[in-house]
Amino acid sequence: MAQQHQSDILIIGSGIAGLSAALCLADKHHVHILSKNKLCSGASAWAQGGIAASTHHEDALAKHKQDTLTAGANINDKEAVDTIINDSLACINWLKSQGVLFEHDESGPKLRQEGGHSERRIYYVADHTGRAIAQALIAKVLAHPNITYFEYTTAIDLILEDRRCVGTYGYRENDDVVDVFTAQHTIIATGGASKVYLYNSNPDIASGDGIAMAERAGVATEGMAFNQFHPTCLYHPQAKSFLISEALRGEGAKLELPDGSSFMHKFHADGELAPRDIVARAIDFELKRLGTPCVYLNISHRDPQWVKTQFPTIYQTCLSYQIDITKQPIPVVPAAHYTCGGIKTDLNGKTSLDGLYAIGEVAHTGLHGANRLASNSLLECVAMARQVGKHIASASFVTLPRIIKPWDDSKVAASDQKVVVSHCWHSCRMIMWDYVGIVRSHERLARAAHSMAFLGMEINNYYRRFRVNRALIECRNLVMVAQNIIESAQKQSKNVGLHYNTDLDDNTDLEGNCSTPTARHPMD
Ligand code: FAD
Ligand code: SIN
Repeated sequence: MAQQHQSDILIIGSGIAGLSAALCLADKHHVHILSKNKLCSGASAWAQGGIAASTHHEDALAKHKQDTLTAGANINDKEAVDTIINDSLACINWLKSQGVLFEHDESGPKLRQEGGHSERRIYYVADHTGRAIAQALIAKVLAHPNITYFEYTTAIDLILEDRRCVGTYGYRENDDVVDVFTAQHTIIATGGASKVYLYNSNPDIASGDGIAMAERAGVATEGMAFNQFHPTCLYHPQAKSFLISEALRGEGAKLELPDGSSFMHKFHADGELAPRDIVARAIDFELKRLGTPCVYLNISHRDPQWVKTQFPTIYQTCLSYQIDITKQPIPVVPAAHYTCGGIKTDLNGKTSLDGLYAIGEVAHTGLHGANRLASNSLLECVAMARQVGKHIASASFVTLPRIIKPWDDSKVAASDQKVVVSHCWHSCRMIMWDYVGIVRSHERLARAAHSMAFLGMEINNYYRRFRVNRALIECRNLVMVAQNIIESAQKQSKNVGLHYNTDLDDNTDLEGNCSTPTARHPMD
C-alpha cells in the first residue's frame, strides 16, 4: 500500500555525493535517502583512478586550478574552481575521518597522475578508489540513527507547493506502489546521464533522472552540450561498460594503432596525457581513418607483478576476457563517460527552485567548464556535499503542508506494450551515438532533433496512458535529457572543449586560447 514519509532532508541518490551529504547533515537532522537500486549502485562505486586534491601550498593549488581551467577551455566558473580546489585537501581529510584508507607509505600519501594534470595529485586505492570510498561511507550511513534509506525506490517527479520543492513521488519497485516523500529540503544527487549514449562506461542507473525531473519542474540546467567521452573502454563483444583507467597512461601505458605504432604525439605535445577530449577525438579520427574497430593501450613493458598490484581489477577483468595486460595490448574504444552539464547550482548547491539542491554529477557548478579534468568529479561530489551541509545548517526550515495529494493512477491501465519502451530506449541511444557523439555536424544534430522529438511524443503519450514502472520512468527521462543535449549542442556557436562540430571551424575558447588542437588534420 502507498505511504507518505516525512523527513527534514530528502536525498535522492546514494552515490558518493548523496552519502556524503547525508553524513554531513544527519547529526542535526533526520535524513531520508532514496536509491533506485542498492545503496552502492551508482557510478561512484565504479570510479577507478582516484580523487584529485592539492596541498595548501599556493603553488600546488595554482597548478591544480590552472589544469582545471585548461581542460575546461577556460569557460569554467572561476569561483567554483577556487572554492572547490581550495577545499580539496579538507575533503581528503574528511574522507579519511570517515574511514577511507588512501594508499600511502612512511613519507606520506602516494599520488597518481592522469591526463591533463601537470603533476601527481590523485589520491587513490589501487584501481577501485570509488568502491573503497563508497564502502566506507555506506558503513557510516548504516550505523547512523538519523538516516533511513529506501532501496529500489525511484523518484519520479518533484512535488511543488507555492513554488517551493517539498519532496518527490517515489516508485517503490518491490511493492509496485508510488509513495509520497516530503522534506523541508530536497537534494538531488542522482548522478549523470551517460546511458543516453549506446556505448558508455556507466552503470545502468545513469539515465539522467534528476536532470529530467528538474527540467519538468522548471529548474534551470546548463552546459548539456558538454558530454565527456572517456578515451579507453575495453573493446570486447562480451564486455559491457568496462573502463580502462587513465591512470594506466599516467603510469606510462601507450596508445597504439593495430600495427603497433604510437600516434598521440601527432595530436598533442602531451601525447597520452593530453586532456581527455583531445585523446578521445584523436582515437575517433584514427578509427575512422583506418576503418578499424579499436586501437590498443599497451602497458606490457612494465613489470608484470607491479601491474597486477597497481591495477588488480583491470588485470583480472581483462584476464576474464582472455587478455593478459602484462603480456599484450588492450583493445580500447572511446565511450560516453561523464555529464559535465546538469542542474545549475550556486556554490551552496542551491538550484533556481526554493527548497531544492543538486550535488554531484547531476549538478552544474561550473567547476568543469567545457571539459572535466580527470578525477575532479569525486572531489566535486565531496566538496559540494560539505557545502550543502554547511548551508542547510544555517537555512531556515519552513512548515510543510501536512497532507500531499497521493499519486493518482486511477485513470491509467497496466502496460500492455512494453516494446514501446524498449524500442524508444534503444532508438534514443542509437541516435545519440550516431548523431550527437564525439564529432557532430549541423546536419547530424538536425536529424537527431527531428527523430528525438518523435520519440519524445511517443514515450510521453505512453506515460500518460499506462502505470509507471522503472523502465518507463527512466526511458521518459532519457529522451528528455537527450533532447536537452541536442538543443544545447545546436546552440553552440563555436567548438569548445567537448563540443566538436565539423561545421564550426572556430576552435578557440572565450579568451581566445586554442584549447583543442584539431584531431581532424594531425599532419597539417
Ligand atoms: P552516482 O554515484 O552515479 O550515484 C547516483 C545515485 O542516484 C545512485 O545511487 C542511483 O541509484 C541514484 N538514482 C539515480 N536516479 C534515481 C532516481 N530517479 N531515484 C532514486 N535514486 C536515483 N570520477 C573521479 O573523480 N575519479 C575517478 O577515478 C572516476 N572514475 C570513474 C570510472 C567510471 C567507470 C565511471 C563510470 C565514472 C568515473 N568517475 C570518476 C566519475 C564519478 O565516478 C562520478 O561522476 C561520480 O561518482 C558521481 O557520483 P554521484 O554521487 O553524483 O552519482
Ligand atoms: C579513470 O580512472 O580513467 C577515470 C577517471 C575519471 O573519470 O575522473
